[in-house]
Amino acid sequence: MKKLESLDNVLVVGGGGREHAIVEKLKSSTKVGTIYAAPGNAGMGVVETGIGATDIDGIVEFVKSHDDIAMTIVAPDDPLSLGLVDKLSALGKRAFGPTKNASKLEWSKAYAKDFMKKYNVPTAAYETFDDADKAKDYIRSCGHRVVVKADGLALGKGVIVAETTDEAIAAVDEIMRDKKFGAAGNRIVVEQFLTGYEVSVLSFVDGEHFSLMPSSCDHKRALDGDKGLNTGGMGAYSPCPLFTDELIDKTVKTVVEPTVKGMTKEGAPFKGVLYFGLMVDGDDVRVLEYNARFGDPETQSVLPLLESDLYDIFGACIDGTLDKCDIKWSDKKSINVVLASGGYPQSYKKGCVITGLDEVRDANVFFAGVKKCDECGKLVTSGGRVLCVQAAADDFKTARDIVYREIRNIKFEDCYYRKDIGSKL
Ligand code: AMP
Ligand code: GLY
Repeated sequence: MKKLESLDNVLVVGGGGREHAIVEKLKSSTKVGTIYAAPGNAGMGVVETGIGATDIDGIVEFVKSHDDIAMTIVAPDDPLSLGLVDKLSALGKRAFGPTKNASKLEWSKAYAKDFMKKYNVPTAAYETFDDADKAKDYIRSCGHRVVVKADGLALGKGVIVAETTDEAIAAVDEIMRDKKFGAAGNRIVVEQFLTGYEVSVLSFVDGEHFSLMPSSCDHKRALDGDKGLNTGGMGAYSPCPLFTDELIDKTVKTVVEPTVKGMTKEGAPFKGVLYFGLMVDGDDVRVLEYNARFGDPETQSVLPLLESDLYDIFGACIDGTLDKCDIKWSDKKSINVVLASGGYPQSYKKGCVITGLDEVRDANVFFAGVKKCDECGKLVTSGGRVLCVQAAADDFKTARDIVYREIRNIKFEDCYYRKDIGSKL
């Protein structure tokens, strides 16, 4: 039983499935009382503030006027890149997440690549360009398949994996001339295409110490068999069985340690969750991207495996005492599958009533694009990725069976989801 008078209230910034997974862990903390969210969503069971995640002034004002808020947890990339953590910290408020300078590892791909080169972190060969013609000359001359990346934040979509030289040149025009990703594409990175399989490794970091979470795998394409358009992620599982202890050790030595130490040397010590998007080929491990935050939908598979108090861990990251934290994870295998609105990631209908949630017994439901209907008071769809269903079990097959069985209870118009998440495990 929680003792109300001694509890800490917190504010979670963000409103998707990842934030809901964070919120569920905070609810189970013996130290956390009221959870506010900016903006949150109607499925999270929190106090929705109605403040948007990028309304930095609004959030700062809210925290200033709520002395009861003991910590703000900043989950999405945009408010981090806008310096929300810096602003709250400057006011003496506890905030979990990297500073603007530390989160540059995510918000500038050119910075991240130069950083990796400087600190010998293995990554794909690359060049950075402000000039489209020079980029095209390079692509014509380099003689290997390339990937063209907008430098800045582009909702995770600023990457074009070109099949041919012509496609790569067209990608340069789309990004630099047509501004497909807005100002994020004023500068581009052209990098060597890598083969292998992708793994996400997330780590708590306190500026000096770090503690890895179980590995995970995202599924970015909309349709089964990794077909269809790129999405924000249609499901995930954790851990990744191919990513052995030897590979984890190698990643720690060649990637995690140099990154954490390097950021401190750069005068931007990283505190928060550092996400390493890796490409693995045999025993070759290279960084595809850094994110300065929890991944979505990886978090919805990973965090349910956490057996320790997440609020304590957040506090330790802020205080630089992560080495004193004994962080325990379950050995179970976890899977989540996203239920999306038909048409996503392009146009889709909103306002469809979601039914059957009460029938779900053995799985977690993490909500993303949902809201309460003003007229009917029911939970309705309000986004592309509506919710995800997650379960953990002793083996992947059992976890998968539970998830897909429970999904059949949940209904909304035009709902679609991938049927093959974890099917090869
Ligand atoms: P990023 O946002 O940089 O992780 O890129 C998004 C996705 O593009 C990755 O998850 C990969 O599937 C793909 N990708 C990015 N860089 C490369 C690369 N150098 N070689 C092959 N695929 C890549
Ligand atoms: N799952 C990829 C990301 O969160 O960026």
